[in-house]
Amino acid sequence: MQSILVTGGCGFIGANFVRWMLGTDSSLRITNLDKLTYAGNLENLKEIENDPRYRFVRGDIADPAAVDQLIAEGRFHAVVNFAAESHVDRSILDSTPFITTNVMGTQVLLDACRRHRVPRYLQVSTDEVYGSLGDEGFFTEETPLAPNSPYSASKASADMLVRAAVHTFGFPAIITRCSNNYGPYQFPEKLIPLFISNALQGQSLPVYGQGTNVRDWIHVLDHCRGIEAALRQGQAGEVYNFGGESELRNIDLTKRLLKALGKPESLIRYVEDRPGHDQRYAIDCTKAKRELGWTPQYRFEDGLAETIAWYQNHADWIARVRSGAYRDYYESQYGGRLGADKTRA
Ligand code: NAD
Ligand code: DAU
Repeated sequence: MQSILVTGGCGFIGANFVRWMLGTDSSLRITNLDKLTYAGNLENLKEIENDPRYRFVRGDIADPAAVDQLIAEGRFHAVVNFAAESHVDRSILDSTPFITTNVMGTQVLLDACRRHRVPRYLQVSTDEVYGSLGDEGFFTEETPLAPNSPYSASKASADMLVRAAVHTFGFPAIITRCSNNYGPYQFPEKLIPLFISNALQGQSLPVYGQGTNVRDWIHVLDHCRGIEAALRQGQAGEVYNFGGESELRNIDLTKRLLKALGKPESLIRYVEDRPGHDQRYAIDCTKAKRELGWTPQYRFEDGLAETIAWYQNHADWIARVRSGAYRDYYESQYGGRLGADKTRA
């Protein structure tokens, strides 16, 4: 693989993936197509923006003409679609951008890739498409899709469109479904970076409901290695689950974060529950282990300690994201060269 198109590369996982791939494969060229929504932060890729192997293109995956032109000219060996609206709470407030980007944007990419015969397409999906578990059991690739939030419904819809492209046209696509990621560069709206940022500033930590919901936490680089393995060795038409094998109740994670930060549990505030809140996610990643030779490498304790240290050492990054100042970087770096910013949150 010499040239790949990554969409959503300025977000949390996309930026980690771009860094990971350029760091491990010196022959690779990456084009990053990103709309720069509130979650897209060019500063996440500051160190590599002048790397000759890397190119940033500002654009919308749901814009058929722009996507067609980029893919026609790019002669990419693969497309990896990270671009999405990714936050469940925002989807409950307004699902429109989730449908536009996650559903329509995916179809626009599929159509353009098919038209220009891109030989590999990877859809970055989520374990949330499987719905919610009780106390027992795990999601496998065979678990029926039963999404519960507008976000997960939009991701499941995208998965169905990918499945249809495989089935109807023999399109060489792979779907990966991963559990909750944590690590550097995560937007401080998601549990771990939000709670670390709040605690560092002595602000309260809003735990939804009783805090008994369970998530399976995976370090973002373990997810990136999984995507790389699926991209290089995965079978077209297949789905691969990735998880961290680190299940934790939200309240236990919250207390662990406070302890590590030396902050009191009195910062915890139990607030009204998320509507339709999924109780538990847990992933069976036997297939990825068996067929891709992948296994999560981070012990959660180590990954979490490293992540806490990263946020402690990047107080300026948190401050710029929280104040909105990170958006000015686009203007200072790209000025009028790439058009006006119409997506300011
Ligand atoms: P994120 O919100 O941090 O980043 C999303 C990126 O996509 C941003 O850079 C944003 O500007 C870009 N984007 C949004 N709409 C776009 C559009 N229309 N065109 C082009 N770019 C657009 O998200 P993330 O947490 O990095 O998640 C990345 C992908 O991984 C998503 O598809 C998400 O569903 C999936 N996923 C996330 C997790 C997780 O725990 N965060 C777990 C499993 C799967
Ligand atoms: O499972 C994969 C999914 O993980 C991804 O597909 C999503 O893009 C990603 O956002 C994440 O979804 P969650 O809803 O699980 O993540 P979030 O960080 O929003 O919430 C984690 C848990 O913490 C969840 O049970 C809700 C709870 N929570 C969250 C926030 C933001 C709180 O109790 N308080 C909060 O303020």
